[in-house]
Amino acid sequence: MTTEKILHPDTASLKRAAAVIRSGGLVAFPTETVYGLGGNALDAEAAVKIYRAKGRPSDNPLIIHLADARDAEKYCVTNEMFYRLADAFCPGPLTVILPKKDCIPYTVTGGLDTVAVRIPSHPIANALIRLAGVPIAAPSANLSGKPSPTRFSHIEHDLDGRVDVLIDGGECDFGVESTIVKPTDDGKGLHLLRPGGITIEMLLTVTDTVIPDKCLTEKLPEGTRPLAPGMMYRHYAPDAPLVLLEGSDEAFLSFVSEKLKAGEDCGVLCYDEDLAVLGEHRTISLGPKDERNTQAHRLFECLRAFPKVERIYSRMPSREGIGLAVFNRLIKAAGYCVIKL
Ligand code: TXA
Ligand code: MG
Repeated sequence: MTTEKILHPDTASLKRAAAVIRSGGLVAFPTETVYGLGGNALDAEAAVKIYRAKGRPSDNPLIIHLADARDAEKYCVTNEMFYRLADAFCPGPLTVILPKKDCIPYTVTGGLDTVAVRIPSHPIANALIRLAGVPIAAPSANLSGKPSPTRFSHIEHDLDGRVDVLIDGGECDFGVESTIVKPTDDGKGLHLLRPGGITIEMLLTVTDTVIPDKCLTEKLPEGTRPLAPGMMYRHYAPDAPLVLLEGSDEAFLSFVSEKLKAGEDCGVLCYDEDLAVLGEHRTISLGPKDERNTQAHRLFECLRAFPKVERIYSRMPSREGIGLAVFNRLIKAAGYCVIKL
């Protein structure tokens, strides 16, 4: 398949991309979180094409992207909690799980009776949805299992020749995928299915109860399913096995210094402050230790940047604020492999 690359999106080129979506094709586009791979959410076949292009299991449901929270009631059964969340955080990096209406095909929801809804704030994403005139179903635009794409070069690497259009929107702001929540059965609280740019502290401004799904930080026992099916898969993985190191700054530095000195074929994911001790060889920094937004912004680009090595050792990030999202992605990329120092 030839893939059209839109390097300088303007109204004319976005109209072309929107027509591709309407006619059943696939367009990779920027959002404020990560790049998405979009198709018409009302077209059962488009969802099948998305799964095929990503190499993704079709029981892992897609998020539908809307231009405006007021459109949600056309596609799902909205409730008071949804509007409270929408008022506070939409457009933005938040996805809400709601009962679906009949117009949303089961291929989009992986057979579930609920659908994930998000209203992205990125101007290109918003314009594309408006011009398409249909909701856009979009997972992250990476090949299944790979780190999510946060730059145009990432979608070019993963999807050139596999989809109709790629749109360049520069670097994504947040760098980690949206926060996913599902209202509790009584409608008063929220289950947190995936941490992201809308932090627990922020969610607590609209409800008193936020219940993090166990799988966010711990490996679930065999046979148990997380609330978000996608959280089950090993994810975000770089080309080498990743190991998280838990311990003090000193313990981390001495552990990895030993490995580097011994000539182990490894890489190190660390903070800027560590580079003074470890040097630039075989090391990649997520950013300053206390700058959690920078760490989230750079996470996937760092995971993609490692050359083929036998093992990557990583700092254990803080779980504060957006740090919980970074921690969650790293521990999943590591397949929950942690060494306590
Ligand atoms: O920031 C984002 O959310 C990005 C951009 C492109 O919007 N999208 C994204 O999509 O991360 P994806 O497909 O990579 O992740 C969607 C997650 C999966 O873990 C999936 O299982 C969960 O959302 N999900 C989707 N529909 C669901 C549903 N009805 N119930 C529970 N979880 C659902
Ligand atoms: Mg994904």
